[in-house]
Amino acid sequence: MVAPLSRSLFARLPSRLPLRGTIYTTSLSLSHQTSRVLSTPTASSHISPFTTTSPLYTASANMASKMSFMDAIKARRTYYQLNKEVPIDDSRIEEIVKHAVLHVPSSFNSQSSRLVVLLKKEHDQFWDFTLEILKLLTPADKFDGTKQRINGFKAGYGTILFFEDPDPVHQLEKNFPLYADHFPTWSEHTSAMHQYALWVALEAEGCGASLQHYNPVVDQKIQDHWKVPQEWKLRAQLVFGGRAGEPGEKQFKPLEERLFIHGK
Ligand SMILES: Cc1cc2nc3c(=O)[nH]c(=O)nc-3n(C[C@H](O)[C@H](O)[C@H](O)COP(=O)(O)O)c2cc1C
Repeated sequence: MVAPLSRSLFARLPSRLPLRGTIYTTSLSLSHQTSRVLSTPTASSHISPFTTTSPLYTASANMASKMSFMDAIKARRTYYQLNKEVPIDDSRIEEIVKHAVLHVPSSFNSQSSRLVVLLKKEHDQFWDFTLEILKLLTPADKFDGTKQRINGFKAGYGTILFFEDPDPVHQLEKNFPLYADHFPTWSEHTSAMHQYALWVALEAEGCGASLQHYNPVVDQKIQDHWKVPQEWKLRAQLVFGGRAGEPGEKQFKPLEERLFIHGK
C-alpha cells in the first residue's frame, strides 16, 4: 500500500533557518481523501510544494497549487531549454536548498555533502569557464555543438554544484572498519539524494532543470575561483532556470522487467 502523502513536499521548515519571519502552514491530516484533495492542481502550471502566508512568496504562492510527493516525482523531467525567468525569487531558492541540505539523509548521518549555489552572473561565469576548458579539449570540428550545448545551460538562471567532503567519509572508515568498503559508495548515494531532492523541488516550483557532469575537467578552475576546499570532490551540476521548452519524449521499459513484488 502506498503511504498517504497529504503533507506537502517540504511541509515544515525548521525554526532555526533565517527565514525573515516566514510562517509556514501545512495540513497534517494523513487521510487518503485529504491527500487527494490537497494534491489536485489548480489551473496554474506552476506548482509549489509549500503553502505559505508570507508576503515574500505571495507571487509564487498565488500562482501555485500544491503538488503531492508522488506527482512531483512524476513531474520531474530533464529540461534542456532554459531561460532566466524563474518563477521564484532568490530567497526561495536559498530556502529550498537549505531545506534539502538539512533534511536529506546521509550514511551514518555523516552529512558529507557540500553544495555551492551559483546564481545569475556567477552561474554565467561557471558556464563560461566550462566552455573555455572544453574548447581546449574538444576537436575543432565538434566545438560548435559543444558551444551550443554549453550556451543552452548558460541561458538558465542558476547552477548547483554538488561536492562530497571526504573527511567525514574517512572518519567513518576509521570508526567502522567492518563497513569501510561501503562508505565511499554511500557518500555517492548521499550526493545523489541531494541532487534528486533539489531537482524535484525546483521543478515542483515551476523551474526547469537538468543534471550535468562536467567534473572532473572543470574541478580545478571552479575550486580555485569559488575558493572551494581542494579536497572536496565535485560530483554533479544541477542547472536550472525558467522553462523555455518542453522535455523530450520519454520511453519506459516495462515495469514487469524492473519491479518484483512478493507477498501481496
Ligand atoms: C545519475 C544521472 C546522471 C545523469 N547525467 C546526465 C548528464 O551528464 N547530462 C545530461 O544531459 N543528462 C544527464 N542525466 C539525465 C538523464 O539522461 C535523464 O534523467 C533520463 O534520460 C530520463 O529523462 P528525464 O530526466 O526527463 O526523466 C542524468 C541522470 C541521472 C539520474
